[in-house]
Amino acid sequence: MINVGVVGAGGYTGLELVKMLLNHPGFRLNYLATSTGDAMIEELHPALLDLITFGVEEADAETIAQRCELVFLALPHKASMGLARELIERGVKIVDLSADYRLERETYEAHYCPHEDAEHLGEAVYGLIEYYREEIKIARLVAGPGCYPTATLLGILPFVPYLDTSAPLFVDAKSGVSGAGKKLTETSHFVTINDNIFAYNPLRHRHAPEIAEKIAKIRGVGVEVNFVPHLIPATRGELVSVYATLKEEIDPPEILEKAYGTERFIRLREKPVDIKSTAGTHFCDIYAQRNGRGLFVSSAIDNLLRGAASQALAAANLMTGQDEGAGLPVIAYVP
Ligand SMILES: NC(=O)c1ccc[n+]([C@@H]2O[C@H](COP(=O)([O-])OP(=O)(O)OC[C@H]3O[C@@H](n4cnc5c(N)ncnc54)[C@H](OP(=O)(O)O)[C@@H]3O)[C@@H](O)[C@H]2O)c1
Repeated sequence: MINVGVVGAGGYTGLELVKMLLNHPGFRLNYLATSTGDAMIEELHPALLDLITFGVEEADAETIAQRCELVFLALPHKASMGLARELIERGVKIVDLSADYRLERETYEAHYCPHEDAEHLGEAVYGLIEYYREEIKIARLVAGPGCYPTATLLGILPFVPYLDTSAPLFVDAKSGVSGAGKKLTETSHFVTINDNIFAYNPLRHRHAPEIAEKIAKIRGVGVEVNFVPHLIPATRGELVSVYATLKEEIDPPEILEKAYGTERFIRLREKPVDIKSTAGTHFCDIYAQRNGRGLFVSSAIDNLLRGAASQALAAANLMTGQDEGAGLPVIAYVP
Protein backbone atom coordinates (compact mmCIF):
# COMPACT_ATOMS: atom_id res chain seq x y z
CA MET A 1 0.00 0.00 0.00
CA ILE A 2 1.21 3.50 -0.81
CA ASN A 3 0.78 6.10 1.94
CA VAL A 4 -1.04 9.27 0.89
CA GLY A 5 -2.51 12.39 2.47
CA VAL A 6 -5.05 15.10 1.76
CA VAL A 7 -4.39 18.75 2.63
CA GLY A 8 -7.54 20.86 2.53
CA ALA A 9 -9.52 17.89 3.84
CA GLY A 10 -12.24 20.17 5.20
CA GLY A 11 -13.36 21.35 1.77
CA TYR A 12 -15.61 19.82 -0.87
CA THR A 13 -12.93 18.31 -3.11
CA GLY A 14 -11.03 17.20 0.00
CA LEU A 15 -14.12 15.29 1.09
CA GLU A 16 -14.42 13.60 -2.30
CA LEU A 17 -10.77 12.55 -2.14
CA VAL A 18 -11.20 11.10 1.34
CA LYS A 19 -14.28 9.14 0.24
CA MET A 20 -12.45 7.55 -2.68
CA LEU A 21 -9.23 6.92 -0.75
CA LEU A 22 -11.05 5.04 2.02
CA ASN A 23 -11.92 2.34 -0.52
CA HIS A 24 -8.80 2.48 -2.68
CA PRO A 25 -7.03 -0.82 -3.39
CA GLY A 26 -3.50 0.63 -3.54
CA PHE A 27 -3.47 3.81 -1.42
CA ARG A 28 -3.56 4.03 2.36
CA LEU A 29 -4.91 7.37 3.63
CA ASN A 30 -2.81 8.26 6.67
CA TYR A 31 -2.65 12.05 6.79
CA LEU A 32 -5.32 14.76 6.78
CA ALA A 33 -4.80 18.49 7.20
CA THR A 34 -6.55 21.82 7.20
CA SER A 35 -5.10 25.27 7.85
CA THR A 36 -5.78 25.04 11.57
CA GLY A 37 -5.84 21.28 12.28
CA ASP A 38 -6.84 19.98 15.72
CA ALA A 39 -10.09 18.32 14.67
CA MET A 40 -11.60 14.96 13.89
CA ILE A 41 -12.79 14.56 10.32
CA GLU A 42 -16.42 14.11 11.41
CA GLU A 43 -16.38 17.64 12.86
CA LEU A 44 -15.68 18.90 9.33
CA HIS A 45 -17.77 16.31 7.49
CA PRO A 46 -20.44 14.62 9.66
CA ALA A 47 -20.95 12.05 6.88
CA LEU A 48 -17.54 10.57 7.76
CA LEU A 49 -18.43 9.77 11.39
CA ASP A 50 -16.80 6.49 12.56
CA LEU A 51 -14.84 6.00 9.32
CA ILE A 52 -11.45 7.52 10.23
CA THR A 53 -9.74 7.08 13.59
CA PHE A 54 -6.83 9.52 13.25
CA GLY A 55 -7.14 13.27 13.62
CA VAL A 56 -6.86 16.24 11.26
CA GLU A 57 -3.64 18.20 11.68
CA GLU A 58 -2.33 21.60 10.76
CA ALA A 59 -0.60 21.25 7.38
CA ASP A 60 3.13 20.72 7.82
CA ALA A 61 5.60 19.75 5.09
CA GLU A 62 7.98 17.85 7.36
CA THR A 63 5.21 15.64 8.79
CA ILE A 64 3.78 14.99 5.33
CA ALA A 65 7.21 13.95 4.05
CA GLN A 66 7.58 11.48 6.94
CA ARG A 67 4.15 9.92 6.38
CA CYS A 68 3.30 10.17 2.69
CA GLU A 69 4.74 9.24 -0.66
CA LEU A 70 2.11 11.35 -2.41
CA VAL A 71 -0.18 14.14 -1.25
CA PHE A 72 -3.26 15.79 -2.71
CA LEU A 73 -3.46 19.55 -2.23
CA ALA A 74 -7.16 20.48 -2.23
CA LEU A 75 -6.42 24.11 -1.39
CA PRO A 76 -7.26 27.53 -2.75
CA HIS A 77 -4.77 28.94 -5.24
CA LYS A 78 -1.78 30.70 -3.63
CA ALA A 79 -2.05 28.43 -0.53
CA SER A 80 -1.01 25.47 -2.67
CA MET A 81 2.21 26.79 -4.12
CA GLY A 82 3.67 27.75 -0.74
CA LEU A 83 3.33 24.19 0.54
CA ALA A 84 4.04 22.44 -2.79
CA ARG A 85 7.51 23.94 -3.04
CA GLU A 86 8.44 22.62 0.41
CA LEU A 87 7.02 19.19 -0.41
CA ILE A 88 8.82 18.79 -3.74
CA GLU A 89 12.08 19.64 -2.04
CA ARG A 90 11.35 16.78 0.41
CA GLY A 91 10.64 14.28 -2.37
CA VAL A 92 6.86 14.03 -1.95
CA LYS A 93 4.80 13.58 -5.13
CA ILE A 94 1.99 16.10 -5.48
CA VAL A 95 -1.33 16.36 -7.20
CA ASP A 96 -2.47 19.95 -6.80
CA LEU A 97 -6.13 20.71 -7.42
CA SER A 98 -5.71 24.48 -7.43
CA ALA A 99 -4.78 26.75 -10.33
CA ASP A 100 -1.24 27.30 -9.07
CA TYR A 101 0.59 25.00 -11.50
CA ARG A 102 -1.89 24.87 -14.39
CA LEU A 103 -0.77 27.81 -16.48
CA GLU A 104 2.25 29.44 -18.02
CA ARG A 105 3.65 31.97 -15.57
CA GLU A 106 2.60 34.94 -17.70
CA THR A 107 -0.99 33.69 -17.99
CA TYR A 108 -1.14 32.83 -14.28
CA GLU A 109 0.14 36.20 -13.16
CA ALA A 110 -2.21 38.07 -15.50
CA HIS A 111 -5.25 36.32 -13.97
CA TYR A 112 -4.33 35.23 -10.43
CA CYS A 113 -1.38 36.67 -8.48
CA PRO A 114 2.42 36.76 -8.59
CA HIS A 115 3.78 33.20 -8.80
CA GLU A 116 5.91 32.16 -5.85
CA ASP A 117 7.32 28.89 -7.18
CA ALA A 118 8.55 29.60 -10.71
CA GLU A 119 11.24 26.99 -10.12
CA HIS A 120 8.78 24.10 -10.22
CA LEU A 121 6.08 25.60 -12.42
CA GLY A 122 7.86 24.47 -15.57
CA GLU A 123 7.93 20.82 -14.58
CA ALA A 124 4.25 20.56 -13.61
CA VAL A 125 2.22 18.33 -15.91
CA TYR A 126 -1.35 19.35 -16.77
CA GLY A 127 -3.55 16.58 -15.39
CA LEU A 128 -5.98 16.21 -18.29
CA ILE A 129 -5.58 12.45 -18.35
CA GLU A 130 -6.54 11.59 -21.93
CA TYR A 131 -4.05 14.11 -23.35
CA TYR A 132 -1.13 13.88 -20.89
CA ARG A 133 -1.21 10.24 -19.78
CA GLU A 134 2.40 9.39 -20.57
CA GLU A 135 3.78 12.61 -19.04
CA ILE A 136 1.73 12.08 -15.87
CA LYS A 137 3.21 8.60 -15.39
CA ILE A 138 6.66 10.09 -14.83
CA ALA A 139 5.65 13.37 -13.14
CA ARG A 140 6.29 14.35 -9.54
CA LEU A 141 3.97 17.37 -9.74
CA VAL A 142 0.61 17.26 -11.51
CA ALA A 143 -1.69 20.26 -11.83
CA GLY A 144 -5.35 19.29 -11.80
CA PRO A 145 -7.20 21.15 -14.58
CA GLY A 146 -10.05 23.49 -13.75
CA CYS A 147 -13.50 21.92 -13.80
CA TYR A 148 -14.84 23.99 -16.71
CA PRO A 149 -11.63 23.54 -18.75
CA THR A 150 -11.85 19.77 -18.21
CA ALA A 151 -15.34 19.50 -19.68
CA THR A 152 -14.67 22.08 -22.40
CA LEU A 153 -11.35 20.67 -23.56
CA LEU A 154 -12.49 17.04 -23.59
CA GLY A 155 -15.40 18.12 -25.77
CA ILE A 156 -13.76 20.48 -28.24
CA LEU A 157 -10.19 19.18 -28.64
CA PRO A 158 -11.05 16.40 -31.13
CA PHE A 159 -12.70 19.01 -33.39
CA VAL A 160 -10.00 21.69 -33.31
CA PRO A 161 -8.27 20.47 -36.51
CA TYR A 162 -11.58 20.94 -38.38
CA LEU A 163 -12.50 24.37 -36.97
CA ASP A 164 -12.43 27.69 -38.74
CA THR A 165 -10.16 29.22 -36.12
CA SER A 166 -10.69 32.73 -37.45
CA ALA A 167 -14.18 32.47 -35.90
CA PRO A 168 -14.48 32.79 -32.12
CA LEU A 169 -15.40 29.84 -29.95
CA PHE A 170 -18.41 30.32 -27.65
CA VAL A 171 -18.44 28.22 -24.50
CA ASP A 172 -21.71 28.24 -22.58
CA ALA A 173 -21.28 26.49 -19.22
CA LYS A 174 -23.59 25.63 -16.34
CA SER A 175 -22.41 24.46 -12.95
CA GLY A 176 -23.86 23.24 -9.69
CA VAL A 177 -23.07 25.39 -6.67
CA SER A 178 -20.38 23.11 -5.18
CA GLY A 179 -18.09 24.36 -7.96
CA ALA A 180 -17.45 27.46 -5.86
CA GLY A 181 -16.25 25.50 -2.81
CA LYS A 182 -17.51 25.34 0.72
CA LYS A 183 -17.34 29.00 1.71
CA LEU A 184 -20.72 30.72 1.58
CA THR A 185 -21.00 33.60 -0.86
CA GLU A 186 -23.87 35.86 -1.91
CA THR A 187 -24.38 33.88 -5.15
CA SER A 188 -24.42 30.50 -3.40
CA HIS A 189 -26.93 31.59 -0.76
CA PHE A 190 -30.03 29.32 -0.95
CA VAL A 191 -32.40 32.20 -1.63
CA THR A 192 -30.23 33.51 -4.47
CA ILE A 193 -29.73 30.23 -6.31
CA ASN A 194 -32.91 28.28 -5.57
CA ASP A 195 -35.32 28.29 -8.58
CA ASN A 196 -32.83 30.51 -10.37
CA ILE A 197 -30.09 30.57 -13.01
CA PHE A 198 -27.66 33.34 -13.88
CA ALA A 199 -24.36 34.03 -15.60
CA TYR A 200 -21.36 35.12 -13.55
CA ASN A 201 -18.12 36.74 -14.74
CA PRO A 202 -19.35 36.52 -18.37
CA LEU A 203 -16.39 36.73 -20.80
CA ARG A 204 -14.11 37.51 -17.83
CA HIS A 205 -13.83 34.18 -15.99
CA ARG A 206 -10.31 32.87 -15.25
CA HIS A 207 -11.01 29.56 -16.93
CA ALA A 208 -11.15 31.21 -20.38
CA PRO A 209 -7.37 31.79 -20.58
CA GLU A 210 -6.81 28.23 -19.32
CA ILE A 211 -8.98 26.81 -22.11
CA ALA A 212 -7.29 28.98 -24.76
CA GLU A 213 -3.79 28.19 -23.50
CA LYS A 214 -4.38 24.42 -23.52
CA ILE A 215 -5.99 24.40 -26.99
CA ALA A 216 -2.92 26.25 -28.26
CA LYS A 217 -0.54 23.87 -26.47
CA ILE A 218 -2.27 20.62 -27.40
CA ARG A 219 -3.42 21.47 -30.93
CA GLY A 220 -0.93 24.19 -31.87
CA VAL A 221 -3.51 26.79 -32.89
CA GLY A 222 -4.71 30.00 -31.30
CA VAL A 223 -8.45 30.47 -31.02
CA GLU A 224 -10.52 33.20 -29.41
CA VAL A 225 -12.42 31.72 -26.45
CA ASN A 226 -15.58 33.43 -25.25
CA PHE A 227 -16.57 31.73 -22.04
CA VAL A 228 -19.76 32.34 -20.07
CA PRO A 229 -20.38 30.27 -16.93
CA HIS A 230 -23.78 30.07 -15.23
CA LEU A 231 -24.80 28.87 -11.80
CA ILE A 232 -27.73 26.47 -11.65
CA PRO A 233 -29.70 25.25 -8.63
CA ALA A 234 -27.94 21.89 -8.38
CA THR A 235 -25.40 20.66 -5.85
CA ARG A 236 -22.98 19.15 -8.34
CA GLY A 237 -22.60 18.66 -12.07
CA GLU A 238 -21.42 20.68 -15.01
CA LEU A 239 -22.84 20.95 -18.52
CA VAL A 240 -20.68 22.69 -21.10
CA SER A 241 -21.98 23.56 -24.56
CA VAL A 242 -19.49 24.76 -27.14
CA TYR A 243 -20.64 26.56 -30.29
CA ALA A 244 -18.06 26.67 -33.07
CA THR A 245 -17.66 27.12 -36.83
CA LEU A 246 -16.26 24.31 -38.95
CA LYS A 247 -14.11 24.86 -41.99
CA GLU A 248 -15.35 21.64 -43.57
CA GLU A 249 -18.36 19.34 -43.26
CA ILE A 250 -17.34 16.51 -40.97
CA ASP A 251 -19.24 13.75 -39.22
CA PRO A 252 -19.07 14.68 -35.48
CA PRO A 253 -19.79 11.20 -34.04
CA GLU A 254 -17.08 9.74 -36.28
CA ILE A 255 -14.54 12.32 -35.04
CA LEU A 256 -15.44 11.58 -31.42
CA GLU A 257 -15.22 7.83 -31.98
CA LYS A 258 -11.76 8.23 -33.50
CA ALA A 259 -10.59 10.36 -30.55
CA TYR A 260 -12.15 8.47 -27.67
CA GLY A 261 -13.32 5.05 -28.91
CA THR A 262 -10.84 3.28 -26.64
CA GLU A 263 -11.10 5.60 -23.62
CA ARG A 264 -12.65 3.96 -20.55
CA PHE A 265 -13.88 7.10 -18.86
CA ILE A 266 -15.31 9.03 -21.79
CA ARG A 267 -18.75 8.00 -22.97
CA LEU A 268 -19.99 9.08 -26.36
CA ARG A 269 -23.71 9.77 -26.30
CA GLU A 270 -26.15 9.57 -29.21
CA LYS A 271 -28.50 11.99 -27.45
CA PRO A 272 -27.66 15.31 -25.74
CA VAL A 273 -25.92 14.77 -22.42
CA ASP A 274 -27.21 15.62 -18.94
CA ILE A 275 -25.47 16.21 -15.60
CA LYS A 276 -27.27 13.55 -13.60
CA SER A 277 -25.86 10.63 -15.57
CA THR A 278 -22.30 11.61 -14.62
CA ALA A 279 -22.93 12.92 -11.06
CA GLY A 280 -20.96 10.81 -8.61
CA THR A 281 -18.68 9.40 -11.32
CA HIS A 282 -15.39 9.96 -13.11
CA PHE A 283 -17.07 9.83 -16.52
CA CYS A 284 -17.18 12.64 -19.04
CA ASP A 285 -20.16 12.20 -21.38
CA ILE A 286 -19.94 13.91 -24.77
CA TYR A 287 -22.42 14.56 -27.57
CA ALA A 288 -21.84 16.47 -30.82
CA GLN A 289 -24.08 17.60 -33.68
CA ARG A 290 -23.54 19.68 -36.80
CA ASN A 291 -25.73 21.96 -38.92
CA GLY A 292 -23.81 22.90 -42.08
CA ARG A 293 -20.64 24.45 -40.69
CA GLY A 294 -22.17 25.13 -37.28
CA LEU A 295 -20.90 22.75 -34.61
CA PHE A 296 -22.47 22.02 -31.22
CA VAL A 297 -20.45 19.98 -28.72
CA SER A 298 -21.87 19.27 -25.31
CA SER A 299 -20.09 17.58 -22.43
CA ALA A 300 -21.15 16.72 -18.89
CA ILE A 301 -19.04 15.95 -15.84
CA ASP A 302 -19.28 15.95 -12.08
CA ASN A 303 -17.33 19.11 -11.20
CA LEU A 304 -16.14 17.68 -7.87
CA LEU A 305 -15.00 14.38 -9.41
CA ARG A 306 -13.90 14.42 -13.07
CA GLY A 307 -13.58 18.20 -12.68
CA ALA A 308 -11.34 17.86 -9.59
CA ALA A 309 -10.97 14.92 -7.18
CA SER A 310 -11.36 11.79 -9.33
CA GLN A 311 -9.24 13.30 -12.08
CA ALA A 312 -6.60 13.99 -9.39
CA LEU A 313 -6.91 10.39 -8.18
CA ALA A 314 -6.53 9.04 -11.73
CA ALA A 315 -3.34 11.09 -12.05
CA ALA A 316 -2.07 9.77 -8.71
CA ASN A 317 -2.78 6.22 -9.87
CA LEU A 318 -0.66 6.79 -12.95
CA MET A 319 2.13 8.54 -11.01
CA THR A 320 2.47 5.51 -8.74
CA GLY A 321 2.33 2.82 -11.42
CA GLN A 322 -1.22 1.68 -10.67
CA ASP A 323 -4.16 1.06 -12.93
CA GLU A 324 -5.57 4.44 -14.01
CA GLY A 325 -9.07 3.41 -12.94
CA ALA A 326 -8.22 2.14 -9.45
CA GLY A 327 -10.74 3.45 -6.93
CA LEU A 328 -12.56 5.71 -9.41
CA PRO A 329 -16.35 5.90 -8.99
CA VAL A 330 -18.41 4.86 -12.00
CA ILE A 331 -21.99 4.49 -10.74
CA ALA A 332 -24.00 7.70 -11.07
CA TYR A 333 -26.23 9.15 -8.35
CA VAL A 334 -29.49 8.29 -10.13
CA PRO A 335 -32.41 8.67 -9.78
N1 LIG B 1 -15.19 22.76 -6.17
C1 LIG B 1 -14.90 22.32 -7.40
O1 LIG B 1 -15.79 21.87 -8.14
C2 LIG B 1 -13.48 22.41 -7.92
C3 LIG B 1 -13.22 21.90 -9.19
C4 LIG B 1 -11.91 21.97 -9.70
C5 LIG B 1 -10.92 22.54 -8.93
N2 LIG B 1 -11.22 23.06 -7.70
C6 LIG B 1 -10.12 23.67 -6.95
O2 LIG B 1 -9.77 22.78 -5.88
C7 LIG B 1 -9.34 23.55 -4.76
C8 LIG B 1 -10.22 23.17 -3.55
O3 LIG B 1 -11.56 23.48 -3.90
P1 LIG B 1 -12.79 23.17 -2.94
O4 LIG B 1 -14.01 23.39 -3.75
O5 LIG B 1 -12.60 21.90 -2.24
O6 LIG B 1 -12.64 24.40 -1.92
P2 LIG B 1 -13.19 24.53 -0.44
O7 LIG B 1 -14.42 23.72 -0.28
O8 LIG B 1 -13.26 25.98 -0.18
O9 LIG B 1 -12.03 23.88 0.43
C9 LIG B 1 -10.73 24.37 0.52
C10 LIG B 1 -10.20 23.94 1.86
O10 LIG B 1 -8.86 24.35 2.00
C11 LIG B 1 -8.64 24.70 3.37
N3 LIG B 1 -7.50 25.60 3.43
C12 LIG B 1 -7.43 26.88 3.02
N4 LIG B 1 -6.18 27.37 3.19
C13 LIG B 1 -5.44 26.36 3.70
C14 LIG B 1 -4.07 26.22 4.10
N5 LIG B 1 -3.23 27.23 3.98
N6 LIG B 1 -3.63 25.02 4.58
C15 LIG B 1 -4.49 23.98 4.70
N7 LIG B 1 -5.81 24.05 4.35
C16 LIG B 1 -6.28 25.23 3.87
C17 LIG B 1 -9.95 25.33 3.79
O11 LIG B 1 -10.32 25.08 5.12
P3 LIG B 1 -9.59 25.65 6.36
O12 LIG B 1 -9.30 27.10 6.09
O13 LIG B 1 -10.52 25.39 7.49
O14 LIG B 1 -8.35 24.83 6.45
C18 LIG B 1 -10.99 24.56 2.99
O15 LIG B 1 -11.58 23.49 3.71
C19 LIG B 1 -9.48 25.03 -5.16
O16 LIG B 1 -8.25 25.52 -5.59
C20 LIG B 1 -10.48 24.98 -6.30
O17 LIG B 1 -10.31 26.05 -7.19
C21 LIG B 1 -12.47 22.99 -7.16
